[in-house]
Amino acid sequence: MPLQPALLEQAAARLRAAQRVVVFTGAGVSAESGIPTFRDADGFWQRFPPERFAYWEGLIRTALRRPGELAEFLHAVLEPIATATPNAAHRAIARLAVHVPVKVITQNVDRLHQDAGSREVREVHGSFFEIVDRKRRILRELSRADLATICERLERARQGSLRLPRLLAAIRPLCGLALRGIYKPRLVLFGMQLAEPDWTQAQADTAQADVVLIVGTSGLIFPAANLPNIARRGGASIIHIDPLDPGPPDLWLEGRAGAILPKLVELAFGKE
Ligand code: OAD
Repeated sequence: MPLQPALLEQAAARLRAAQRVVVFTGAGVSAESGIPTFRDADGFWQRFPPERFAYWEGLIRTALRRPGELAEFLHAVLEPIATATPNAAHRAIARLAVHVPVKVITQNVDRLHQDAGSREVREVHGSFFEIVDRKRRILRELSRADLATICERLERARQGSLRLPRLLAAIRPLCGLALRGIYKPRLVLFGMQLAEPDWTQAQADTAQADVVLIVGTSGLIFPAANLPNIARRGGASIIHIDPLDPGPPDLWLEGRAGAILPKLVELAFGKE
């Protein structure tokens, strides 16, 4: 797909003139790192219905009734994250911050923005890498290698008998019951409040931004999907990067983030 040079130049000019930039990302920014999105044709919610897999209650019910299916779901979610590395889009976003103050607000839980070098990242849907107690105090951090080990054990839990005990043993580093009570990843599932202080900071960042780049999100899940409205009220100009048309009134750069973002940052600020 040709990269709409006039629109690209318009977007680059806005970035050059900006004092404060927010980059708001969804699953699409990590698609080229091999992590499926949620609602595209090969998305997670096509294979695993959100009623059963996007709520803690649904997950617990599935664990008790069909532990093999929960093992399959967790494996499908964790395995791509365990092996992923940042792609050209994550790296371009990190590079942008060399030229203009950038706050990254992400709905992703894969840590790829941080791995690419972005420093100020608001994880409004939490993270798979931090294990918290009931009061959301961080107990420990996991590495990608820890996630890979959990995946190997989940693979075994999917086969054979005694699936529930094997499942619980496989996910012990991730969630379970300890002396001090339940522990689990710092994740925001459906029906939960967004992660704090990230969400409060994200709203303030967006209200103050003069350019908001929205990358790879369907913008369907509230309250995060309210950020574009906050940006418009604050007078920011909004640029979308996505293969799908977000609709007027914002500027839309049509295509893959990994192809567009490096070109946009280079056009705005020159080569590295
Ligand atoms: P979605 O799956 O809803 O949307 C992914 C978006 O990425 C779509 O607009 C795609 O067109 C776009 N996309 C796909 N490949 C792309 C690429 N290479 N470059 C750029 N864009 C691409 O994912 P999210 O919007 O992130 O929440 O979903 C929002 C929330 O819904 C998630 O955080 C998750 C989910 O349920 C919770 O689980 C709480």
